[in-house]
Amino acid sequence: MRGRIPDSFIDELLARVDIVDVIERRVPMKKAGREWTACCPFHNERTPSFYVSPAKQFFHCFGCGAHGSAIKFLMDYERLEFPDAVEELAQSVGLKVPYEGGRDERPREDKTDLYALLDASAGWYAGELPKSAEAQAYCRKRGLDADTIARFRLGWAPAGYDGVIKALGSSERRMQLLNEAGMVATGERGHKYDRFRERLMFPILDRRGRVIAFGGRVLSAEQSPKYLNSPETPLFHKGRELFALWQVKQANASLQRIVVVEGYMDVIALHQAGLPIAVATLGTATTPDHTEILFRAAPDVVFCFDGDRAGRSAAWKALESALPRLRDGRQAYFLFLPDGEDPDSLVRKEGKTGFEQRLKQATPLSDYFFGELAQDVDMASLDGRARLAERARPLIAKLPDGAFRDLMADELEKRSGARALLQPDPSAHRAVQRPVAVQRSLVRSAVALLLAQPGLADLVEKPYRFLHLDKPGVGLLAELLDIARSRPGIHPATLVEQFAEREEYASLQKLMAAMVVGEAEQQRREFLDALARLEHQANLQRKHELEGRLGRLSAEEKDELRRLLPIREQFSVDPQH
Ligand code: UTP
Ligand code: MN
Repeated sequence: MRGRIPDSFIDELLARVDIVDVIERRVPMKKAGREWTACCPFHNERTPSFYVSPAKQFFHCFGCGAHGSAIKFLMDYERLEFPDAVEELAQSVGLKVPYEGGRDERPREDKTDLYALLDASAGWYAGELPKSAEAQAYCRKRGLDADTIARFRLGWAPAGYDGVIKALGSSERRMQLLNEAGMVATGERGHKYDRFRERLMFPILDRRGRVIAFGGRVLSAEQSPKYLNSPETPLFHKGRELFALWQVKQANASLQRIVVVEGYMDVIALHQAGLPIAVATLGTATTPDHTEILFRAAPDVVFCFDGDRAGRSAAWKALESALPRLRDGRQAYFLFLPDGEDPDSLVRKEGKTGFEQRLKQATPLSDYFFGELAQDVDMASLDGRARLAERARPLIAKLPDGAFRDLMADELEKRSGARALLQPDPSAHRAVQRPVAVQRSLVRSAVALLLAQPGLADLVEKPYRFLHLDKPGVGLLAELLDIARSRPGIHPATLVEQFAEREEYASLQKLMAAMVVGEAEQQRREFLDALARLEHQANLQRKHELEGRLGRLSAEEKDELRRLLPIREQFSVDPQH
């Protein structure tokens, strides 16, 4: 249990650390006379009003009033509790934090036992590795050297259902901890067994180097899943952790560039090859939390993905999560690897310098952004450029206020001639649009319009009355409406991505690409018109069906038919008829 940290230690700590160092690692600063300045990390601003004084060991923002010591800075910047900020600072200068008394301090939140148990588990797995010939052989096959195995604390979970349990679960309390830490699973009848068996174990460390979870890889291609990860636990939240961030921080006092790859083995291969600047997400998409942590580690973040479709889609998600975090001074790059290669295979083939070369040639976010958005639009046409603008604007709006956002907006204007498009000549638009729209089936037309403007979904009320219509695509239209309604502001490409694993994916992409841009208002009218027609057809179909069974209708059906009777065959008939 943690006790109180004595004041004398705080004084000693603050005397040892240099606040400029602490802040510089996280916020790029410029020298200004005897002080350092930066754009304040605690509020949005374009001109620096944040000052750090090495003499006073103090920061102060004249804009928002934030101020304090290095400890206060860490608390605010990394959202740490006081003792954790102290721990982190102490660690950076090699001091051990003393605690006085204890008992009464944070008894409920104390997770010391949990950390200790996970650490012991890692130790136990590591001890098993030399005992297993097949695990050893596998490490050799993957080219892992002894230093790497030690640095990453790799281990082996042997076969059997109670290895960890026997080694570490000797009491009820310890079993409870094993359970809480995700080290055991529960069988049908409530019995506990080792979660990880016959797997090469990769401990996942937090930002302070403590074991918080594991990933485990099978040795042969027949077994599955290939990687098994710890479940979410009180210590482990996938969306906030990055594999090897600890090792990266250990290896680099300050870092200009950090690289995000997809797999454990990719990270490890890069570190072993002399590039200890790689981390990985843990089998999940890059979250905004990840992005923030990445940018705090280094001003340049390179997202590295496979060149396949899954990789491209993961990259776009990473871009979306990066946008709101791209304050001035931060830069994101995208590196797509050749087909069939991953960083592990590439760095083995091309070596450190080869991979570094690729990193240097990574695509800046702005190029990737405009390239991707322009991919399926015809930039030679006015409509194509309007479409680009329409897709890009809401994304650019997500960027924090600053010079980078201005640059992106300028770039959009340059590429799309957006200013010219703000007041388009409506007659010109209609002339191109009409023939395209009438050729489409109603369902396709409704889908295409919805893909152009997902916000249109809000105009449709549930239950969807067109659902009864027996026509291809009706169910899909309903699904798209549901998604768009539940996610206000969803980007068309994101909407389509929801169908990435479905057979409709390709045609949705085509529809999204083929949609000719018109004025928003015009599209809205066409959309409502298409839906009204669909509804009409659905009613008509139902009417015919009921009429076909006239003698055998229930009372309810008769009522329904009565309501449907006024419906005519033609949609836009003269009301006099
Ligand atoms: P990959 O399947 O691309 O594997 O998974 P890899 O990293 O190239 O692994 P090796 O080289 O075959 O050993 C990439 C990452 O996705 C997560 C893991 O984090 C893995 O490192 N993953 C993959 C899982 O969580 N579960 C799986 O079953 C597969
Ligand atoms: Mn691999």
